Amino acid sequence: SNTKNFHFNVEWKSVTRLCHRKPVLTVNGEYPGPTIAVHEGDNVRIVVTNKVATNTTIHWHGVRQLRTGWADGPAYITQCPIGAGKSFTYSFSVVNQRGTLWWHAHFSWQRASVHGAFIIYPRTPFPFSLPAPLQPDIPLIFGEWWNGDVEVVEREMMLHGGGPNISDAYTINGLPGPLYPCSTKDTFVQTIEPGKTYLLRLINAALNDELFFAIANHNLTVVEIDAAYTKPFSSPAILIAPGQTTNVLLTADQVPVPADDSSAMFAMAARPYLTSVFPFNNSTTVGFFKYQTSSTKIQENYNPPAISPPFTLPNNLPALEDTQFATQFLGSLRSLASDDYPCNVPETVDKRIVATVSLNLQDCPLNETCKGYLNKRFYASMNNQSFVRPSTSILESHYRNLSAGFSTDFPENPPYVFNYTGVNPVTENMNTEFGTKLFRVPFGTRLEIVLQDTNFLNPENHPIHVHGHNFFIVGRGFGNFDLEKDPKGYNLVDPPERNTVAVPMGGWAAIRLVADNPGVWFVHCHLEEHTSWGLALGFIVENGKEPSQCLLPPPSDLPPC
Ligand code: C2O
Repeated sequence: SNTKNFHFNVEWKSVTRLCHRKPVLTVNGEYPGPTIAVHEGDNVRIVVTNKVATNTTIHWHGVRQLRTGWADGPAYITQCPIGAGKSFTYSFSVVNQRGTLWWHAHFSWQRASVHGAFIIYPRTPFPFSLPAPLQPDIPLIFGEWWNGDVEVVEREMMLHGGGPNISDAYTINGLPGPLYPCSTKDTFVQTIEPGKTYLLRLINAALNDELFFAIANHNLTVVEIDAAYTKPFSSPAILIAPGQTTNVLLTADQVPVPADDSSAMFAMAARPYLTSVFPFNNSTTVGFFKYQTSSTKIQENYNPPAISPPFTLPNNLPALEDTQFATQFLGSLRSLASDDYPCNVPETVDKRIVATVSLNLQDCPLNETCKGYLNKRFYASMNNQSFVRPSTSILESHYRNLSAGFSTDFPENPPYVFNYTGVNPVTENMNTEFGTKLFRVPFGTRLEIVLQDTNFLNPENHPIHVHGHNFFIVGRGFGNFDLEKDPKGYNLVDPPERNTVAVPMGGWAAIRLVADNPGVWFVHCHLEEHTSWGLALGFIVENGKEPSQCLLPPPSDLPPC
Protein backbone atom coordinates (compact mmCIF):
# COMPACT_ATOMS: atom_id res chain seq x y z
CA SER A 1 0.00 0.00 0.00
CA ASN A 2 1.00 3.61 -0.49
CA THR A 3 2.10 6.12 2.07
CA LYS A 4 0.83 9.67 1.64
CA ASN A 5 2.74 12.42 3.41
CA PHE A 6 1.42 15.80 4.47
CA HIS A 7 2.82 18.68 6.46
CA PHE A 8 0.53 20.88 8.54
CA ASN A 9 1.89 24.10 9.98
CA VAL A 10 -0.48 25.54 12.56
CA GLU A 11 0.03 29.28 12.20
CA TRP A 12 -1.68 32.65 12.40
CA LYS A 13 -2.84 34.32 9.23
CA SER A 14 -4.52 37.68 8.87
CA VAL A 15 -8.00 37.24 7.36
CA THR A 16 -10.70 39.85 6.61
CA ARG A 17 -14.43 39.09 6.58
CA LEU A 18 -17.34 41.51 7.10
CA CYS A 19 -14.72 44.30 7.03
CA HIS A 20 -13.11 42.92 10.20
CA ARG A 21 -9.46 42.02 9.82
CA LYS A 22 -8.06 39.70 12.48
CA PRO A 23 -5.47 36.99 12.99
CA VAL A 24 -7.03 33.60 12.33
CA LEU A 25 -5.49 30.33 13.43
CA THR A 26 -4.96 28.27 10.28
CA VAL A 27 -3.18 25.29 8.80
CA ASN A 28 -0.60 26.39 6.22
CA GLY A 29 -2.21 29.83 6.12
CA GLU A 30 -5.41 28.48 4.55
CA TYR A 31 -8.94 29.15 5.81
CA PRO A 32 -10.64 26.68 5.60
CA GLY A 33 -7.61 24.43 5.72
CA PRO A 34 -6.13 22.20 3.02
CA THR A 35 -8.02 19.15 1.74
CA ILE A 36 -6.48 15.79 2.52
CA ALA A 37 -7.21 13.37 -0.30
CA VAL A 38 -6.09 9.74 -0.05
CA HIS A 39 -7.21 6.34 -1.27
CA GLU A 40 -8.79 3.54 0.68
CA GLY A 41 -5.98 1.41 2.11
CA ASP A 42 -3.37 4.19 2.10
CA ASN A 43 -1.02 4.84 4.99
CA VAL A 44 -1.23 8.47 5.99
CA ARG A 45 1.51 10.46 7.71
CA ILE A 46 0.78 14.02 8.69
CA VAL A 47 3.52 15.99 10.42
CA VAL A 48 1.82 18.70 12.46
CA THR A 49 4.09 21.55 13.52
CA ASN A 50 2.76 24.03 16.04
CA LYS A 51 4.08 27.46 15.11
CA VAL A 52 2.01 29.41 17.62
CA ALA A 53 2.27 30.09 21.34
CA THR A 54 -0.78 28.04 22.39
CA ASN A 55 -1.16 24.26 22.47
CA THR A 56 -2.91 22.38 19.70
CA THR A 57 -3.95 18.92 18.47
CA ILE A 58 -5.62 17.70 15.27
CA HIS A 59 -8.42 15.10 15.08
CA TRP A 60 -9.26 13.15 11.91
CA HIS A 61 -13.00 13.13 12.43
CA GLY A 62 -14.50 9.77 11.47
CA VAL A 63 -11.23 8.01 10.65
CA ARG A 64 -11.49 4.81 12.64
CA GLN A 65 -7.85 4.72 13.79
CA LEU A 66 -7.90 0.93 14.13
CA ARG A 67 -5.24 0.14 16.78
CA THR A 68 -3.74 3.61 16.28
CA GLY A 69 -5.67 5.57 18.91
CA TRP A 70 -2.49 7.58 19.51
CA ALA A 71 -3.26 9.43 16.29
CA ASP A 72 -6.90 10.23 17.12
CA GLY A 73 -6.19 13.70 18.48
CA PRO A 74 -8.56 14.83 21.27
CA ALA A 75 -6.42 16.68 23.80
CA TYR A 76 -5.93 14.85 27.11
CA ILE A 77 -7.95 11.85 25.88
CA THR A 78 -5.50 10.22 23.46
CA GLN A 79 -2.54 12.57 23.65
CA CYS A 80 -1.03 15.53 25.41
CA PRO A 81 -1.23 18.66 23.27
CA ILE A 82 1.51 19.67 20.83
CA GLY A 83 3.29 22.54 22.56
CA ALA A 84 4.58 25.76 21.02
CA GLY A 85 7.29 25.06 18.46
CA LYS A 86 6.84 21.29 18.69
CA SER A 87 5.81 18.69 16.09
CA PHE A 88 3.94 15.42 16.20
CA THR A 89 3.45 12.94 13.35
CA TYR A 90 -0.04 11.51 13.06
CA SER A 91 0.44 8.13 11.44
CA PHE A 92 -2.43 5.78 10.58
CA SER A 93 -4.03 3.92 7.71
CA VAL A 94 -7.49 4.27 6.23
CA VAL A 95 -8.78 0.73 6.10
CA ASN A 96 -12.20 -0.34 4.90
CA GLN A 97 -13.45 3.24 4.80
CA ARG A 98 -14.24 5.50 1.87
CA GLY A 99 -16.00 8.80 1.38
CA THR A 100 -16.03 12.25 2.91
CA LEU A 101 -14.70 12.88 6.38
CA TRP A 102 -12.97 15.93 7.76
CA TRP A 103 -10.23 17.01 10.13
CA HIS A 104 -10.24 19.69 12.81
CA ALA A 105 -8.28 20.98 15.78
CA HIS A 106 -9.37 19.25 19.01
CA PHE A 107 -8.13 21.76 21.53
CA SER A 108 -10.40 24.44 23.04
CA TRP A 109 -12.38 26.19 20.27
CA GLN A 110 -9.59 26.14 17.69
CA ARG A 111 -11.69 24.12 15.31
CA ALA A 112 -13.60 27.32 14.45
CA SER A 113 -10.94 27.97 11.81
CA VAL A 114 -8.64 24.95 11.93
CA HIS A 115 -10.56 22.45 9.82
CA GLY A 116 -10.69 20.97 6.33
CA ALA A 117 -11.98 18.10 4.20
CA PHE A 118 -10.57 14.56 4.50
CA ILE A 119 -11.49 12.61 1.38
CA ILE A 120 -10.93 8.89 1.02
CA TYR A 121 -11.35 7.83 -2.61
CA PRO A 122 -12.73 4.31 -3.04
CA ARG A 123 -10.75 1.55 -4.77
CA THR A 124 -13.94 0.27 -6.43
CA PRO A 125 -16.62 2.12 -8.43
CA PHE A 126 -19.38 4.00 -6.64
CA PRO A 127 -22.38 1.77 -5.90
CA PHE A 128 -24.80 4.38 -7.24
CA SER A 129 -25.61 5.30 -10.79
CA LEU A 130 -24.70 8.66 -12.20
CA PRO A 131 -27.21 10.47 -14.41
CA ALA A 132 -24.31 12.07 -16.28
CA PRO A 133 -20.52 11.82 -16.30
CA LEU A 134 -19.12 12.78 -12.91
CA GLN A 135 -17.15 16.00 -12.74
CA PRO A 136 -14.40 16.83 -10.26
CA ASP A 137 -16.02 16.76 -6.84
CA ILE A 138 -16.68 19.85 -4.80
CA PRO A 139 -16.22 20.10 -1.01
CA LEU A 140 -18.67 22.55 0.61
CA ILE A 141 -17.65 23.28 4.20
CA PHE A 142 -20.13 25.14 6.40
CA GLY A 143 -18.55 27.16 9.18
CA GLU A 144 -18.97 30.14 11.47
CA TRP A 145 -17.10 33.44 11.50
CA TRP A 146 -16.59 35.61 14.57
CA ASN A 147 -15.44 39.20 14.16
CA GLY A 148 -13.80 38.81 17.55
CA ASP A 149 -11.24 36.34 18.87
CA VAL A 150 -12.82 32.90 19.29
CA GLU A 151 -10.53 32.02 22.21
CA VAL A 152 -11.88 35.06 24.03
CA VAL A 153 -15.47 34.02 23.28
CA GLU A 154 -14.78 30.65 24.88
CA ARG A 155 -12.88 32.06 27.85
CA GLU A 156 -15.59 34.61 28.66
CA MET A 157 -18.29 31.98 28.41
CA MET A 158 -16.48 29.78 30.92
CA LEU A 159 -15.91 32.76 33.22
CA HIS A 160 -19.46 34.09 33.40
CA GLY A 161 -21.20 30.73 33.07
CA GLY A 162 -23.68 31.90 30.43
CA GLY A 163 -23.97 31.15 26.73
CA PRO A 164 -21.21 32.30 24.34
CA ASN A 165 -21.41 35.31 22.06
CA ILE A 166 -22.95 34.16 18.83
CA SER A 167 -20.95 34.08 15.62
CA ASP A 168 -21.29 37.01 13.21
CA ALA A 169 -21.87 34.88 10.12
CA TYR A 170 -22.24 31.38 8.79
CA THR A 171 -19.91 30.60 5.94
CA ILE A 172 -19.63 28.37 2.88
CA ASN A 173 -15.96 27.46 2.33
CA GLY A 174 -15.00 30.35 4.61
CA LEU A 175 -17.15 32.95 2.80
CA PRO A 176 -20.28 34.51 4.39
CA GLY A 177 -21.99 35.70 1.20
CA PRO A 178 -24.11 38.69 0.22
CA LEU A 179 -26.65 38.75 3.06
CA TYR A 180 -24.09 40.00 5.59
CA PRO A 181 -22.79 43.55 5.90
CA CYS A 182 -19.67 44.30 3.88
CA SER A 183 -19.56 40.85 2.36
CA THR A 184 -20.63 40.85 -1.30
CA LYS A 185 -17.16 40.08 -2.58
CA ASP A 186 -16.74 37.31 0.00
CA THR A 187 -19.20 35.00 -1.69
CA PHE A 188 -18.51 31.43 -2.74
CA VAL A 189 -19.21 30.91 -6.45
CA GLN A 190 -18.80 27.58 -8.20
CA THR A 191 -19.02 27.33 -11.97
CA ILE A 192 -20.75 24.24 -13.35
CA GLU A 193 -21.50 22.98 -16.84
CA PRO A 194 -25.07 22.37 -18.00
CA GLY A 195 -26.04 18.70 -18.19
CA LYS A 196 -23.25 17.41 -15.97
CA THR A 197 -23.39 15.76 -12.55
CA TYR A 198 -21.33 16.84 -9.57
CA LEU A 199 -20.57 15.14 -6.27
CA LEU A 200 -20.91 17.71 -3.48
CA ARG A 201 -19.13 16.84 -0.26
CA LEU A 202 -21.01 18.70 2.48
CA ILE A 203 -19.27 19.12 5.83
CA ASN A 204 -20.79 20.90 8.83
CA ALA A 205 -17.82 22.46 10.63
CA ALA A 206 -20.00 25.07 12.40
CA LEU A 207 -19.38 25.17 16.12
CA ASN A 208 -22.87 25.38 17.50
CA ASP A 209 -25.60 25.01 14.88
CA GLU A 210 -27.36 22.28 12.98
CA LEU A 211 -28.04 23.54 9.44
CA PHE A 212 -30.45 23.19 6.56
CA PHE A 213 -28.94 23.46 3.07
CA ALA A 214 -30.60 23.80 -0.32
CA ILE A 215 -29.88 24.96 -3.88
CA ALA A 216 -32.48 26.97 -5.80
CA ASN A 217 -34.33 24.96 -8.47
CA HIS A 218 -32.30 21.80 -7.87
CA ASN A 219 -32.98 18.60 -5.98
CA LEU A 220 -30.12 16.75 -4.35
CA THR A 221 -29.57 13.00 -4.34
CA VAL A 222 -28.14 11.78 -1.04
CA VAL A 223 -25.66 8.93 -1.58
CA GLU A 224 -23.46 8.86 1.52
CA ILE A 225 -23.39 10.08 5.13
CA ASP A 226 -20.33 10.14 7.39
CA ALA A 227 -18.37 8.11 4.82
CA ALA A 228 -20.92 5.28 4.62
CA TYR A 229 -22.98 4.65 1.49
CA THR A 230 -26.74 5.09 1.76
CA LYS A 231 -29.67 4.01 -0.34
CA PRO A 232 -29.84 7.00 -2.70
CA PHE A 233 -32.86 9.27 -2.39
CA SER A 234 -33.78 12.64 -3.80
CA SER A 235 -34.47 15.55 -1.48
CA PRO A 236 -35.17 19.27 -1.92
CA ALA A 237 -32.87 20.06 1.02
CA ILE A 238 -30.37 18.59 3.49
CA LEU A 239 -30.16 18.64 7.28
CA ILE A 240 -26.64 18.39 8.67
CA ALA A 241 -25.45 18.60 12.28
CA PRO A 242 -22.03 19.79 13.43
CA GLY A 243 -19.60 16.93 12.90
CA GLN A 244 -21.62 15.27 10.15
CA THR A 245 -20.77 14.94 6.46
CA THR A 246 -23.14 14.22 3.58
CA ASN A 247 -22.38 13.43 -0.06
CA VAL A 248 -25.01 14.49 -2.57
CA LEU A 249 -25.22 14.40 -6.35
CA LEU A 250 -26.15 17.63 -8.10
CA THR A 251 -27.17 17.50 -11.74
CA ALA A 252 -27.03 20.78 -13.63
CA ASP A 253 -30.40 20.23 -15.27
CA GLN A 254 -31.67 23.80 -15.54
CA VAL A 255 -31.64 25.70 -18.81
CA PRO A 256 -30.32 29.20 -18.30
CA VAL A 257 -31.13 31.84 -20.89
CA PRO A 258 -28.10 31.88 -23.22
CA ALA A 259 -25.63 34.62 -22.51
CA ASP A 260 -27.72 35.95 -19.63
CA ASP A 261 -25.43 35.88 -16.63
CA SER A 262 -28.04 36.53 -13.99
CA SER A 263 -30.34 33.72 -15.08
CA ALA A 264 -27.36 31.37 -14.85
CA MET A 265 -26.84 32.00 -11.14
CA PHE A 266 -28.52 29.64 -8.69
CA ALA A 267 -28.27 30.47 -5.02
CA MET A 268 -27.26 27.87 -2.45
CA ALA A 269 -28.01 28.67 1.16
CA ALA A 270 -27.53 27.29 4.66
CA ARG A 271 -29.25 28.41 7.84
CA PRO A 272 -30.03 26.88 11.23
CA TYR A 273 -32.74 24.37 11.99
CA LEU A 274 -33.46 25.06 15.66
CA THR A 275 -34.04 28.31 17.45
CA SER A 276 -33.96 26.65 20.88
CA VAL A 277 -30.18 26.33 20.69
CA PHE A 278 -29.03 29.38 22.51
CA PRO A 279 -27.53 31.71 21.95
CA PHE A 280 -28.45 31.41 18.36
CA ASN A 281 -27.35 33.12 15.16
CA ASN A 282 -30.46 33.60 13.02
CA SER A 283 -28.82 34.39 9.70
CA THR A 284 -28.26 32.78 6.32
CA THR A 285 -25.10 32.14 4.34
CA VAL A 286 -25.46 32.23 0.56
CA GLY A 287 -23.24 31.12 -2.29
CA PHE A 288 -23.92 30.48 -5.97
CA PHE A 289 -23.70 27.82 -8.63
CA LYS A 290 -23.04 29.56 -11.88
CA TYR A 291 -23.86 27.75 -15.10
CA GLN A 292 -21.23 28.12 -17.72
CA THR A 293 -22.98 29.89 -20.59
CA SER A 294 -21.61 31.21 -23.86
CA SER A 295 -20.56 34.40 -22.09
CA THR A 296 -18.66 32.69 -19.28
CA LYS A 297 -15.77 30.34 -19.74
CA ILE A 298 -14.44 28.23 -16.93
CA GLN A 299 -10.98 29.46 -16.18
CA GLU A 300 -8.42 27.89 -13.94
CA ASN A 301 -8.44 30.65 -11.39
CA TYR A 302 -11.92 31.93 -12.07
CA ASN A 303 -12.32 35.14 -10.12
CA PRO A 304 -16.03 35.77 -9.66
CA PRO A 305 -17.40 39.30 -9.74
CA ALA A 306 -18.84 40.80 -6.57
CA ILE A 307 -22.31 39.38 -6.03
CA SER A 308 -24.95 41.91 -5.18
CA PRO A 309 -28.62 41.25 -4.66
CA PRO A 310 -31.24 40.91 -6.07
CA PHE A 311 -31.28 37.14 -6.02
CA THR A 312 -33.81 34.78 -4.55
CA LEU A 313 -33.16 32.40 -1.70
CA PRO A 314 -33.88 28.79 -2.60
CA ASN A 315 -37.61 28.39 -1.86
CA ASN A 316 -36.88 24.75 -1.04
CA LEU A 317 -34.82 25.80 2.00
CA PRO A 318 -36.81 24.63 5.05
CA ALA A 319 -37.92 27.26 7.55
CA LEU A 320 -36.53 27.58 11.06
CA GLU A 321 -37.99 24.87 13.32
CA ASP A 322 -39.20 22.74 10.41
CA THR A 323 -39.16 19.57 12.49
CA GLN A 324 -41.46 17.84 10.06
CA PHE A 325 -38.84 18.13 7.29
CA ALA A 326 -36.06 17.20 9.72
CA THR A 327 -37.82 14.05 10.89
CA GLN A 328 -38.74 12.98 7.39
CA PHE A 329 -35.21 13.64 6.07
CA LEU A 330 -33.49 11.71 8.87
CA GLY A 331 -36.03 8.90 8.50
CA SER A 332 -35.09 8.57 4.81
CA LEU A 333 -31.45 7.77 5.61
CA ARG A 334 -30.78 4.04 5.24
CA SER A 335 -27.63 1.99 4.97
CA LEU A 336 -26.99 0.65 1.50
CA ALA A 337 -27.00 -2.89 2.95
CA SER A 338 -25.91 -4.53 -0.32
CA ASP A 339 -23.78 -7.63 -0.98
CA ASP A 340 -20.71 -5.46 -1.51
CA TYR A 341 -21.51 -3.14 1.40
CA PRO A 342 -23.39 -5.24 3.96
CA CYS A 343 -24.86 -3.64 7.05
CA ASN A 344 -23.09 -5.17 10.05
CA VAL A 345 -25.47 -3.97 12.74
CA PRO A 346 -25.34 -6.23 15.83
CA GLU A 347 -28.66 -8.04 16.12
CA THR A 348 -28.21 -8.64 19.83
CA VAL A 349 -26.10 -6.76 22.33
CA ASP A 350 -23.86 -7.68 25.28
CA LYS A 351 -24.32 -4.40 27.06
CA ARG A 352 -26.80 -1.54 27.00
CA ILE A 353 -26.07 1.87 28.44
CA VAL A 354 -28.84 4.43 28.87
CA ALA A 355 -27.42 7.92 29.14
CA THR A 356 -29.21 11.21 29.56
CA VAL A 357 -27.91 14.13 27.56
CA SER A 358 -28.66 17.35 29.33
CA LEU A 359 -27.92 20.86 30.33
CA ASN A 360 -27.48 21.62 34.02
CA LEU A 361 -27.09 24.55 36.35
CA GLN A 362 -24.57 25.07 39.09
CA ASP A 363 -24.65 27.64 41.87
CA CYS A 364 -22.70 30.78 41.19
CA PRO A 365 -19.58 31.14 43.36
CA LEU A 366 -20.06 33.63 46.19
CA ASN A 367 -19.59 37.28 45.21
CA GLU A 368 -19.67 36.49 41.50
CA THR A 369 -22.32 37.19 38.89
CA CYS A 370 -23.25 34.34 36.59
CA LYS A 371 -24.96 34.78 33.27
CA GLY A 372 -26.66 31.39 32.99
CA TYR A 373 -30.26 30.84 34.06
CA LEU A 374 -31.47 32.16 37.46
CA ASN A 375 -28.07 33.71 38.12
CA LYS A 376 -26.44 30.27 37.96
CA ARG A 377 -23.80 28.76 35.68
CA PHE A 378 -24.56 26.45 32.78
CA TYR A 379 -23.03 23.02 32.67
CA ALA A 380 -23.88 19.95 30.66
CA SER A 381 -23.70 16.26 31.43
CA MET A 382 -24.39 12.64 30.52
CA ASN A 383 -26.08 10.69 33.31
CA ASN A 384 -25.46 13.72 35.48
CA GLN A 385 -21.68 13.43 35.05
CA SER A 386 -20.05 16.55 33.74
CA PHE A 387 -16.83 15.41 32.06
CA VAL A 388 -13.63 17.08 33.22
CA ARG A 389 -10.57 16.60 31.05
CA PRO A 390 -7.55 15.52 33.07
CA SER A 391 -4.14 17.15 32.74
CA THR A 392 -2.52 13.97 31.38
CA SER A 393 -3.39 11.69 28.47
CA ILE A 394 -5.94 9.04 29.48
CA LEU A 395 -4.77 6.72 26.69
CA GLU A 396 -1.21 6.90 27.95
CA SER A 397 -2.25 6.22 31.55
CA HIS A 398 -4.37 3.30 30.37
CA TYR A 399 -1.52 1.88 28.24
CA ARG A 400 0.93 2.11 31.13
CA ASN A 401 -1.62 0.67 33.54
CA LEU A 402 -1.80 3.80 35.63
CA SER A 403 -5.19 4.88 36.85
CA ALA A 404 -4.11 8.48 37.26
CA GLY A 405 -6.65 11.13 36.44
CA PHE A 406 -9.72 9.04 35.65
CA SER A 407 -12.00 6.26 36.88
CA THR A 408 -14.03 3.62 35.06
CA ASP A 409 -17.31 3.87 36.96
CA PHE A 410 -19.41 5.87 34.52
CA PRO A 411 -23.03 5.09 35.56
CA GLU A 412 -24.72 2.77 33.05
CA ASN A 413 -28.14 4.20 33.79
CA PRO A 414 -29.52 7.61 34.71
CA PRO A 415 -29.11 8.35 38.43
CA TYR A 416 -32.85 8.74 38.70
CA VAL A 417 -35.66 8.13 36.29
CA PHE A 418 -38.60 10.44 35.74
CA ASN A 419 -40.45 12.13 32.92
CA TYR A 420 -37.40 13.69 31.19
CA THR A 421 -39.36 15.40 28.50
CA GLY A 422 -42.32 16.68 30.55
CA VAL A 423 -43.05 20.31 31.21
CA ASN A 424 -40.89 22.29 33.61
CA PRO A 425 -38.37 19.70 34.79
CA VAL A 426 -36.37 22.66 36.11
CA THR A 427 -37.97 21.71 39.41
CA GLU A 428 -35.76 18.59 39.36
CA ASN A 429 -32.29 18.51 40.82
CA MET A 430 -30.33 20.57 38.32
CA ASN A 431 -26.87 20.07 39.81
CA THR A 432 -24.32 17.84 38.17
CA GLU A 433 -21.31 15.90 39.42
CA PHE A 434 -17.87 16.69 38.05
CA GLY A 435 -15.34 14.02 37.24
CA THR A 436 -13.48 12.05 34.60
CA LYS A 437 -15.59 8.91 34.38
CA LEU A 438 -15.29 6.32 31.65
CA PHE A 439 -16.66 2.85 31.18
CA ARG A 440 -14.68 -0.20 30.15
CA VAL A 441 -15.65 -3.01 27.79
CA PRO A 442 -13.86 -6.17 26.61
CA PHE A 443 -12.73 -6.30 22.96
CA GLY A 444 -15.58 -7.22 20.64
CA THR A 445 -18.41 -6.15 22.97
CA ARG A 446 -21.64 -5.53 21.10
CA LEU A 447 -22.74 -2.30 22.66
CA GLU A 448 -25.96 -0.32 22.64
CA ILE A 449 -26.12 3.24 23.89
CA VAL A 450 -29.50 4.92 24.30
CA LEU A 451 -29.12 8.70 24.32
CA GLN A 452 -32.00 10.45 26.07
CA ASP A 453 -32.40 14.18 25.67
CA THR A 454 -33.90 15.94 28.67
CA ASN A 455 -36.04 19.02 28.92
CA PHE A 456 -33.77 20.63 31.54
CA LEU A 457 -33.76 24.28 30.50
CA ASN A 458 -33.96 23.52 26.84
CA PRO A 459 -34.66 20.60 24.56
CA GLU A 460 -31.98 20.54 21.86
CA ASN A 461 -30.74 18.28 19.13
CA HIS A 462 -27.40 17.20 20.54
CA PRO A 463 -25.07 15.84 17.85
CA ILE A 464 -23.30 13.08 19.75
CA HIS A 465 -20.02 11.97 18.16
CA VAL A 466 -18.29 8.68 18.97
CA HIS A 467 -14.54 8.47 18.34
CA GLY A 468 -12.88 5.35 16.93
CA HIS A 469 -16.10 3.62 15.84
CA ASN A 470 -18.97 3.92 13.42
CA PHE A 471 -22.37 3.06 14.82
CA PHE A 472 -25.82 2.22 13.56
CA ILE A 473 -28.80 4.36 14.52
CA VAL A 474 -31.27 1.54 15.21
CA GLY A 475 -34.02 3.73 16.64
CA ARG A 476 -35.02 7.29 17.39
CA GLY A 477 -38.17 8.88 18.74
CA PHE A 478 -39.69 11.72 20.66
CA GLY A 479 -40.51 11.60 24.38
CA ASN A 480 -39.06 9.19 26.92
CA PHE A 481 -37.29 6.01 25.81
CA ASP A 482 -39.36 2.97 26.78
CA LEU A 483 -37.19 -0.09 27.45
CA GLU A 484 -40.15 -2.44 27.07
CA LYS A 485 -41.60 -1.05 23.90
CA ASP A 486 -39.04 0.88 21.86
CA PRO A 487 -36.44 -1.85 21.14
CA LYS A 488 -39.20 -3.83 19.41
CA GLY A 489 -39.34 -1.12 16.75
CA TYR A 490 -35.59 -1.04 16.04
CA ASN A 491 -34.39 -1.18 12.44
CA LEU A 492 -31.92 -4.09 12.38
CA VAL A 493 -31.98 -4.41 8.59
CA ASP A 494 -30.66 -1.16 7.10
CA PRO A 495 -30.20 1.43 9.86
CA PRO A 496 -28.05 4.42 8.89
CA GLU A 497 -24.36 4.11 9.77
CA ARG A 498 -22.69 7.27 11.08
CA ASN A 499 -20.14 8.64 13.51
CA THR A 500 -22.35 11.53 14.74
CA VAL A 501 -26.06 11.32 15.61
CA ALA A 502 -28.34 14.26 16.33
CA VAL A 503 -30.42 13.09 19.28
CA PRO A 504 -33.93 14.44 18.58
CA MET A 505 -34.85 17.32 20.88
CA GLY A 506 -37.11 16.10 23.63
CA GLY A 507 -36.47 12.57 22.42
CA TRP A 508 -33.98 9.74 22.19
CA ALA A 509 -31.71 7.88 19.77
CA ALA A 510 -30.45 4.31 20.17
CA ILE A 511 -27.11 3.40 18.59
CA ARG A 512 -25.31 0.07 18.30
CA LEU A 513 -21.67 -0.64 17.63
CA VAL A 514 -19.10 -3.38 17.95
CA ALA A 515 -16.28 -2.25 20.23
CA ASP A 516 -13.51 -3.69 18.07
CA ASN A 517 -10.97 -0.91 18.38
CA PRO A 518 -8.75 -1.20 21.46
CA GLY A 519 -7.98 2.11 23.13
CA VAL A 520 -9.61 5.09 24.82
CA TRP A 521 -12.40 6.84 22.96
CA PHE A 522 -14.13 10.14 23.50
CA VAL A 523 -17.90 10.50 23.11
CA HIS A 524 -19.22 14.05 23.12
CA CYS A 525 -21.69 16.61 21.91
CA HIS A 526 -20.34 18.29 18.78
CA LEU A 527 -21.87 21.62 19.81
CA GLU A 528 -18.65 23.18 21.06
CA GLU A 529 -20.32 25.09 23.90
CA HIS A 530 -21.70 21.82 25.25
CA THR A 531 -18.33 20.06 25.05
CA SER A 532 -16.86 22.95 27.06
CA TRP A 533 -19.62 22.49 29.65
CA GLY A 534 -18.82 18.78 30.02
CA LEU A 535 -21.30 16.99 27.76
CA ALA A 536 -18.99 14.03 27.20
CA LEU A 537 -17.85 10.65 28.40
CA GLY A 538 -15.09 8.25 27.49
CA PHE A 539 -14.86 4.51 27.07
CA ILE A 540 -12.03 2.04 27.12
CA VAL A 541 -11.95 -0.93 24.78
CA GLU A 542 -9.59 -3.56 26.14
CA ASN A 543 -7.12 -5.47 24.00
CA GLY A 544 -8.33 -8.72 22.42
CA LYS A 545 -6.61 -12.09 22.61
CA GLU A 546 -4.88 -11.92 19.21
CA PRO A 547 -1.95 -9.57 18.64
CA SER A 548 -3.99 -8.09 15.77
CA GLN A 549 -6.60 -7.07 18.33
CA CYS A 550 -4.25 -4.98 20.44
CA LEU A 551 -3.45 -1.31 20.59
CA LEU A 552 -0.09 -0.58 18.91
CA PRO A 553 2.70 0.92 21.04
CA PRO A 554 2.83 4.72 21.24
CA PRO A 555 4.81 6.64 18.62
CA SER A 556 8.19 7.86 19.87
CA ASP A 557 7.41 11.54 19.29
CA LEU A 558 4.18 11.50 21.34
CA PRO A 559 4.08 14.89 23.10
CA PRO A 560 4.56 14.94 26.89
CA CYS A 561 2.20 16.89 29.12
CU1 C2O B 1 -15.16 16.13 15.43
CU2 C2O B 1 -14.22 14.85 19.16
O1 C2O B 1 -14.65 15.55 17.32
